[in-house]
Amino acid sequence: KSGRRPLVAGNWKMNGLRASIAVVEAVRNGLTPELGESTDVLICPPSTLIASCVAAAYGSPIAIGGQNLHAKPSGAFTGSISAEMLADLGASYVIVGHSERRAYHHETDDGVHAKALAARRAGLCGIICVGETKEEREEGRTLDIVRAQLAIGVPKGASARDTVIAYEPVWAIGTGLTPTPADIAEVHASLREMLGQLIGAEAQAVRILYGGSVKPSNARELMAVENVDGALVGGASLVAEDFLGIARAYL
Ligand code: G3P
Repeated sequence: KSGRRPLVAGNWKMNGLRASIAVVEAVRNGLTPELGESTDVLICPPSTLIASCVAAAYGSPIAIGGQNLHAKPSGAFTGSISAEMLADLGASYVIVGHSERRAYHHETDDGVHAKALAARRAGLCGIICVGETKEEREEGRTLDIVRAQLAIGVPKGASARDTVIAYEPVWAIGTGLTPTPADIAEVHASLREMLGQLIGAEAQAVRILYGGSVKPSNARELMAVENVDGALVGGASLVAEDFLGIARAYL
């Protein structure tokens, strides 16, 4: 109905050893032509597995992405990985500003902006994450928080080709809690309105994902919400059948 192609993305976080390539293979095997035609499917494994996941997904509609990047293309930044390095491995997306990066690695909105620019520079699509904490929601500040994160994080000239937004309420991540469909609708509408201020008419084409305790059992209800163009899935993306169950929400 929106004209935007749904994207269902799995974020494995710091999970997965080489044996987890089997999950990509199982998703590949379960991906019917009907599903591949209707929905973009993305898996973001830890960096150590990107190359082997790219190989496992080769020739299938599954895209592989990174979970983080350094804003510089190269240099003396021990332990860091650039957008160019991710692209070189065959990644096509990268998650930017996940709340765990913000909380544990002190990522700021300006840093998110720089990383989103770096993703575009390397031809990657950046998935820019925003979301409020439990405290911020209780104080009624949700919209102010996510709009400010978006306003600073999204670079000028961002387009649907290089940018996806993910709304992940921090309190809904890994907790089994989700906002109500009405609450999600309110946030996504507000994000799209803010995007319109930032990038004009292109805002209508940019996908806005919901993330936080998405499971096969609630995916259909959450994905039916207006302005929800897909899901960013954590825990459930580690199990191929669950991830596929979520991806089928749009069929
Ligand atoms: O990036 C996805 C994530 O933060 C959501 O995690 O486990 O609640 O689906 P989970």
